[in-house]
Amino acid sequence: MHVEADQNLICYFDGRYMQLRDAHVGILTHALHYGTGVFEGIRAHWDDAQRELFVLRSEDHYERWKKNCGILRIEIPASPEELTDITVEILRRNGFQTNVYVRPLAYKCAERIGVSTDDQDAFAIVALPFGEYLAADKGIHAGVSSWRRIDDNAIPPRAKICGAYVNSAVASADARLSGFDEAILLNENGHVAEGATCNIFMVRNGKLITPPVTENVLEGITRDSVMRLAAWELNMETIERPIDRSELYMCDELFFTGTAVAITPIVRVDHRPVKDGLIGEVTRRLQQLYFDATRGHLEVYRNWLTPIYQTQTRNEQDVVLQAATAAV
Ligand SMILES: Cc1ncc(COP(=O)(O)O)c(C=O)c1O
Repeated sequence: MHVEADQNLICYFDGRYMQLRDAHVGILTHALHYGTGVFEGIRAHWDDAQRELFVLRSEDHYERWKKNCGILRIEIPASPEELTDITVEILRRNGFQTNVYVRPLAYKCAERIGVSTDDQDAFAIVALPFGEYLAADKGIHAGVSSWRRIDDNAIPPRAKICGAYVNSAVASADARLSGFDEAILLNENGHVAEGATCNIFMVRNGKLITPPVTENVLEGITRDSVMRLAAWELNMETIERPIDRSELYMCDELFFTGTAVAITPIVRVDHRPVKDGLIGEVTRRLQQLYFDATRGHLEVYRNWLTPIYQTQTRNEQDVVLQAATAAV
């Protein structure tokens, strides 16, 4: 799925809020030539009954972003809390009443020729309405790619480094041209790594299994949410171990997880049905739990959510606090 952005949307760029049409970088920008940027993907879900938009695990995403940026020595001069406040402000200014995707991007911004990096960094945050990325209700057909997942010693896939996404882009585009909905990438050891933009889980003999983070995968936040939901709500511990390609053809259930794809069942893989080709019971239950947790329907997971319209940002809280203190 591709989403064209409305140029009137309000984003955060160059330290201020502005319309997307006014946010530009120069043609010689380092990151544009050498892929020296780090991005994030964050979801906000609209709940119609509550008339509320909930940002999901915002501070966890921003913490990961800052750590990922450290690999490229990109400095983001704001804390996860402050970045969450900026995100809340962007969402409010746009007045979204729909599901939204938030795309923070930090990058080497020097405008010059030469690959080695310096300390000129910039960041931007854009948010846009975003529906379903893959067919999570019907399930999809995934194909094992002939492209291998990049290795930690080449470009660390545990970080969302812009240049690394050439690997995902070619695998994903080729999978689609071959008639699949999405690609599954193996690592250089021939083990299952992940999807082009998502982590992967299988259910085999009643066990929930996913590759460990040392198999050249992104340390997904949805992966972590799903492992928690499975443990706490279904009493299923996730086993982190390497997965062979042929296990994909023998397992009982298979699904992708990710900010864009949520929990997307894989019902066919390489022209073979996953079990009977229907969405499995564990996948269905996790999908429902994830849906409820991310829309504020489950009280225990409320701390994953930042409501946009009901609460004040830290800046506003400070103003109220200062006013109250002054009154005393
Ligand atoms: C390569 C890759 N793997 C996995 C994921 C899922 O990570 P998360 O759940 O944090 O969105 C993504 C998300 O963009 C990704 O790009």
